[in-house]
Amino acid sequence: MPNIELSDRLNQLPPYLFLEIDRARREAQAQGRDIINLGVGDPDQSTPKSIIEALKKAVDDPGNLHYPFDAGVPKLRTEIARWFKGRFNVELDPAGEIYPLIGSKEGLAHFPLAVINPGDKVLLTDPAYPAYQAAVTFAGGKIHYLPLKAANNFLPKMSDIEGYKDPRMIIVCYPNNPTAAVATKEFYTELVRVCTERNIIIVSDLAYSEVYYEGIKPPSILEIPGAKDIAIEFHSFSKTYYMTGWRLGWACGNPQLVAALGKVKSNMDSGVFNAIQQAGIAALNMDQAEIGDMRRDYQERRDALVNGLRAFGWKMDLPKAAFYVWSKIPTKFPDSLTCAKEFLDKADVIVTPGVGFGKQGEGYVRMALTVPVERIHEAVQRLAKVLA
Ligand SMILES: Cc1ncc(COP(=O)(O)O)c(C=O)c1O
Repeated sequence: MPNIELSDRLNQLPPYLFLEIDRARREAQAQGRDIINLGVGDPDQSTPKSIIEALKKAVDDPGNLHYPFDAGVPKLRTEIARWFKGRFNVELDPAGEIYPLIGSKEGLAHFPLAVINPGDKVLLTDPAYPAYQAAVTFAGGKIHYLPLKAANNFLPKMSDIEGYKDPRMIIVCYPNNPTAAVATKEFYTELVRVCTERNIIIVSDLAYSEVYYEGIKPPSILEIPGAKDIAIEFHSFSKTYYMTGWRLGWACGNPQLVAALGKVKSNMDSGVFNAIQQAGIAALNMDQAEIGDMRRDYQERRDALVNGLRAFGWKMDLPKAAFYVWSKIPTKFPDSLTCAKEFLDKADVIVTPGVGFGKQGEGYVRMALTVPVERIHEAVQRLAKVLA
């Protein structure tokens, strides 16, 4: 067999750090062990019935079975604009400032190809959702990491951004995966000021905008005056409507940036299946009180996990948004991978080692609230034995 060489861009990606844990999980499950998986950010609940019904109806319409228009079903764009105005009080032009995506990850992955030339500098946070690193690497961008520290509420420091010479772009994500931190409007105002002065494109990932607690709604960067001059924001149906498998999201903001992403996409894919776009329209029009139920569910799980583990002496903060608990590992473990391995080996509980999200994630684990509350109680009891 000839040796097949992979591209430099693929070889540049770091080894998949979660692989070891994942292999251990599969082995444990094959042995018939009852694993509680707090590792994956994929909600356990089903998509609301009204959305599924809308998809079924749309599939029966032959008009929906052809290539979609690149920029999406016009009604989906007007519904997104209506939703956005209601949620953030921001006007978006459905004709040029909104673009449907095959999930927000697809858009985030393609966007650097629209604006980054090989060698261009890009600011990413550390830790971060790993897809950004891959996206920038594929475009040939040079990554500089901004550390996210608990002391700064896991927000990048403006002085770190100002101190770095000539970056082309920055990617921020609040509510944050993995730290569950939220950004204030004051942070966004400063970010817009600094990036406008330096002509840095801002990418804001708002995939978790609707997963929040105590009624405190995370803002959009587009609420800040002048943000639309330099920012593009990515939104997702995945977490809000339990639609992870459907692959639907949108990009919005600066029309030039949105059009540039559209140009990449029209050369890569031909848009989102029309029937799924119809289901997206149904999602935006369903009784949004159901999303309140989702928040209550996550809040109950969050409280069960955090208060449960605190009772056994593990100190951690209550997240204000997203469905993750990001916590320093108990001092008895030397690093996050060892901690995650011991939890799996001794408690049959999977957590994600923080180092998988970047160097600054070392010393932390991420626990996803994506299992029912009874299983969270069970996980707490099992982990307590390892902590003792
Ligand atoms: C921070 C963040 N952004 C984007 C995504 C991608 O979401 P989707 O492609 O399902 O819209 C995820 C998925 O877990 C995420 O955690």
